[in-house]
Amino acid sequence: MNSLDRFAQGKLDALEASHLRRVLVDSAREDGIWIARNGRRLLSFSCNDYLNLTHHPKVKAAAISAIEKYGAGSGASRLVTGNHPLFAELEARLAKLKQTEAACIFGSGYLANAGIIPVIVGEGDLLLIDELSHSCLWAGSQLSRARAEVFRHNDLVHVEELLNAHHGDHRHALIVTDGVFSMDGDLAPLADLGALAQSHDAWLMSDDAHGLGVLAEGRGSVFVNGSKAPVDLQMGTLSKALGSYGGYLCASQPVIDLIKTRARTLIYSTGLPPASVAAAIAALDIIESDPELIARPLANAQAFTRALNLPLAQSPIVPVIIGDEQAAMNAQARLENEGFLITAIRPPTVPKGTARLRVAFTAGHTPQDVEQLASAVRPLLAA
Ligand SMILES: Cc1ncc(COP(=O)(O)O)c(C=O)c1O
Repeated sequence: MNSLDRFAQGKLDALEASHLRRVLVDSAREDGIWIARNGRRLLSFSCNDYLNLTHHPKVKAAAISAIEKYGAGSGASRLVTGNHPLFAELEARLAKLKQTEAACIFGSGYLANAGIIPVIVGEGDLLLIDELSHSCLWAGSQLSRARAEVFRHNDLVHVEELLNAHHGDHRHALIVTDGVFSMDGDLAPLADLGALAQSHDAWLMSDDAHGLGVLAEGRGSVFVNGSKAPVDLQMGTLSKALGSYGGYLCASQPVIDLIKTRARTLIYSTGLPPASVAAAIAALDIIESDPELIARPLANAQAFTRALNLPLAQSPIVPVIIGDEQAAMNAQARLENEGFLITAIRPPTVPKGTARLRVAFTAGHTPQDVEQLASAVRPLLAA
């Protein structure tokens, strides 16, 4: 074994010993909820395809027709020749939905966060980040070289303390947070955070990956109070409820113009394929015309939390905290035996001691599916 392989093997052995090694498993999704895995057909509660649109006939047809017209790939960065005409259409649709002047599509949600934050803040600036923010908000924060201060989860008092303590020594301050927390399913207090930001001349960015299409008539977490919270930068992804792939930012025209000329992950990465953009447009057509469909994932999640006496779900995501990593893996295996796919989530994705089953509800789950899952999970809570 050469030294590189020894290094890799040593790391793998250590991860294995602490039950933290991850492996890829072939998973053939046959529709929005059923999945073939390990030779079995399982009912999935682990897909972020909240509206089951990945397999919707209109969404697939839009993707196929975009390939026929514009090709399988974009061929270059959007700044060179990769800016096919579907981008402008999707950007206008997203900006309208999010009530902003403009929008910018990125190659993925991860690329969006890694690209946006370093354009907005840099050395000499202050960045405040919720401790439970998604990994790609941390990646963007680190790339920005701004001074990063972590605030306790959803703790407005802590945010204000940090602004009072540090904003004076820095040029600009940016607060970043998930809108819907991806592993906990709870919501950030965006209206209050926005007001706090405004009163301290700070800017607010929220990541609505898990809110678009499923909260507030589909507009997402920024709108849950009935009107738009003052969030300057509304970032999100096309890969969850929209059933496609890609990321976006909705913001004012000058901010979007700046992003389009400065964000490295936009400039130095090939434009999103036409099929993904067309699929997202078709998904928005469905979301905007079917309020009953988009209300279902949250209703299912709430039926589940009611059945198990858990805190009422605020989004389609419900964490069932197990604690120990191995115990969480065992719980996943037990549920798989009963025909359910619910992947265990372990550190470092979640804090140590909070390994969990992350249950994601979709529109296609029936009340009976939800009841059966609740019955299967109940003994795990008692354990
Ligand atoms: C909160 C959050 N932000 C961003 C992302 C990344 O988006 P994408 O999958 O489009 O890269 C994810 C999930 O993957 C997420 O959960």
